[in-house]
Amino acid sequence: MDETGSRETVRLRDFLASADERSLAGAAIREGGLVVMPTETVYGLAANALDSHAVASIYVAKGRPSDNPLIVHVSSVSDIDRLCGPDADALDTARALFARFSPGPLTLVLPRSKDIPLGVTAGLETVGIRIPSHPVALALIEAAGVPLAAPSANRSGRVSPTTFAMACAEMDGRVDAIIDGGDCQVGLESTVAKVGHGTVSILRPGAVTEEMLAEALPGFAIMKSADLHVDPSAAAPSPGMRYAHYRPSAEVYCWKGGPVEGFAHVEGLAVIGLASDIGRVDAPLRIGFSSVEEYAARFFAALAECDRAGARVILAQSVPESGIGSALMNRLVRAAAGRSVG
Ligand code: TXA
Ligand code: MG
Repeated sequence: MDETGSRETVRLRDFLASADERSLAGAAIREGGLVVMPTETVYGLAANALDSHAVASIYVAKGRPSDNPLIVHVSSVSDIDRLCGPDADALDTARALFARFSPGPLTLVLPRSKDIPLGVTAGLETVGIRIPSHPVALALIEAAGVPLAAPSANRSGRVSPTTFAMACAEMDGRVDAIIDGGDCQVGLESTVAKVGHGTVSILRPGAVTEEMLAEALPGFAIMKSADLHVDPSAAAPSPGMRYAHYRPSAEVYCWKGGPVEGFAHVEGLAVIGLASDIGRVDAPLRIGFSSVEEYAARFFAALAECDRAGARVILAQSVPESGIGSALMNRLVRAAAGRSVG
């Protein structure tokens, strides 16, 4: 890396089959480098979580405010003993949740052990831990032999990459390697949940839903962060909730499904939503999905596709806020910066 942060990036296209690619990426991490890896949720920008210099370079590559903490990715539940502080109750709850939902799209916020540099937690006394299920992410953790701090691999404020092409467009020239893992299956970032005593607070909704957490923890109070709106002045429980997010170049509106005559003369109009409904909008670019699940999985990629096609305005259809719909609406409202129509 030179002093401006620019790097020569290698693309690793055959990671699981190639021992050479795995050892190259593992060595890059151990030497303090940055590697973009696929996970089942979104592509992540990984560095050695125990190396504060490497962690600092993540913030540079993303252009990310340094008060927004990073998630630490590990391959096994037993790693939490070393990475988390001594709160036996919280760790028991975490083990129960990870036994049920890991590997998978769940991040648990737990007391931090002193081994975790404060640069990872942005000064907080808690740390977010996740065990991803993507075989490439697990293979990279193994090859590196260290826990990986990894935010989504987008530049700050932009859409999280869910395809190899999107990851390259965001991070080429800023990292040492980008690993091709195909399209991300979940397509929205993990559920972030803070473990308390008899309570779990959902700081960011994801594919592990409120309903699933409630079922796994009978007798616990499952609390939801009501904060769906972008309010830079509000004290948010999860620092990342404060920032502008998921902004493509086009202006996004949350489309409630009704008439949108006001947009009839807009040039470069695009509509994204359920295939059964988007025909109601007269737009040159329509991207339709057969289910809310597919819509959630492809939402970020669809925003990127609209940008590539030169769309100026994107109408993104709203969905009911249950199951994965809560996570999709959380991202959609942010992408639209609160604008809605129809
Ligand atoms: O699916 C995912 O979680 C992806 C993949 C790469 O694993 N990662 C991801 O990281 O989305 P990032 O940095 O883009 O979002 C992490 C979110 C932020 O909103 C951050 O504020 C919150 O998790 N977070 C992390 N550590 C926290 C902590 N100790 N306390 C509260 N919130 C935390
Ligand atoms: Mg992110």
